[in-house]
Amino acid sequence: MDQIRMRVKERRELTPSIAEFTLEPIDEVTLPEFAPGAHITIETPSGAMRRYSLVNDGAAPKEYVVAIKREPQSRGGSASMHDEANVGAELNIEVPENDFPLTDVQKYLLIAGGIGITPIYSMAKYLDKKGKLLRIIYVSRSAEESAYLDELNASFKSRMIVHHDNGDPNAVYDFWDDLVTPRATHVFCCGPKPLMDEIKAVSGHWPEGRIHFEDFKPVDVVRDDDTAFEVELKKSGTNVKVPEDRSILEALRDAGFATSSSCESGTCGTCKTRLLDGEADHRDLVLMEEEKDDFVMICVSRAKSGRLVLDL
Ligand code: FES
Repeated sequence: MDQIRMRVKERRELTPSIAEFTLEPIDEVTLPEFAPGAHITIETPSGAMRRYSLVNDGAAPKEYVVAIKREPQSRGGSASMHDEANVGAELNIEVPENDFPLTDVQKYLLIAGGIGITPIYSMAKYLDKKGKLLRIIYVSRSAEESAYLDELNASFKSRMIVHHDNGDPNAVYDFWDDLVTPRATHVFCCGPKPLMDEIKAVSGHWPEGRIHFEDFKPVDVVRDDDTAFEVELKKSGTNVKVPEDRSILEALRDAGFATSSSCESGTCGTCKTRLLDGEADHRDLVLMEEEKDDFVMICVSRAKSGRLVLDL
């Protein structure tokens, strides 16, 4: 994976919990172009790799702009960006990738929940420039917690529904009227899991391929009923405890071991580690059946047996 060393050129607080970071390359390099929906992976100051959608124009970019929410349950990634990535800070990034590309059609319905507005905002600006028909539904807790609301109102007010639920589960937006009749429209949705589950539920009767989702966490890294276990690092001759709310990768990092990772969601294969003993609870999406006795993806998988021996 190509990495580029970047510097925080500007930082802007968009809401009390969302900050926008403008990153410029330190060396004279031409930044790769990208299309709306693309993300970069940032090695955050904590060492955790995190994916963030790009919000700026991807044609001949001089910088990459991301907006990051400080997640209340942050396991180091977003909190360390907020606490440590001030102007002048240097960070490694991986070049843009796009798992949420736009299709070329005439009509679009763009649905964003909370910080999911970042790829949606980028798509809206791009489609508007191309003269496409678009509508936006932007749902969030409150106006103060809605990134880019002023900018969106300035450009899209008559084409946008904004709904705030103030955290009341009984006041969430009802998407049924918007999706009851399948149309030639393509829907692009990014937001928290409950929102995406809701859109999936109410759009089940749409023809295949019309509803597109951005899902940064295809697997749960840590689940509520997870328990602590131990990993033995054979080469290092050390044992490390993996707490119930940390991945093996995070526990190793916390214990001072340098680890390679990229997606941290069990999809890229970077953290593949040889398993010497113990039974793993495999949660990744990359290992083949025949590999599962001998390898483990330490960013997401855990122990079934209470103890794993790794070739580290
Ligand atoms: S870091 Fe990508 S699979 Fe573990």
